[in-house]
Amino acid sequence: MTTILINGRSATVSDPPEVPLLWVLRDSLALTGTKYGCGVGQCGACTVHVDGAAVRSCVMPLSAVGARPVATIEGLAPAGRLHELQQAWLDERVSQCGYCQPGMLMSAAALLARVPSPSETQVRESITNLCRCGTYPRVLRAVLRAAVQP
Ligand code: FES
Ligand code: FES
Repeated sequence: MTTILINGRSATVSDPPEVPLLWVLRDSLALTGTKYGCGVGQCGACTVHVDGAAVRSCVMPLSAVGARPVATIEGLAPAGRLHELQQAWLDERVSQCGYCQPGMLMSAAALLARVPSPSETQVRESITNLCRCGTYPRVLRAVLRAAVQP
């Protein structure tokens, strides 16, 4: 059994330590907002936060999490409220099919927590998630909209 801190609560799971965090979240904890895309750390659909940093959960074994807090898209904002990035996403009509969007939002949130007022270049370089619907220009506008204005 392993206990992890997830979205501010502790949870105990019976997954083996080598199981990727993605499958612990989706299959054992029913946190299905985190998506499976490539499974090899390339697309970013599975992005969550571990100790505030964006990580690709498909390539992080459960054993690597340790005592560090994990946050998923379900925990991005307090219940019943929108994170400023989610509001900016709505304002810019970012989402198309939506599949990549939880990962995009988690990457963006980690960036703004680290760099509250990023440049356009910093956004482009920090958010390397893939989107088959081509929402990249809208993602950029939404992140800059949600950022602290310089
Ligand atoms: S599913 Fe994890 S990076 Fe693609
Ligand atoms: S919105 Fe469809 S893959 Fe990104």
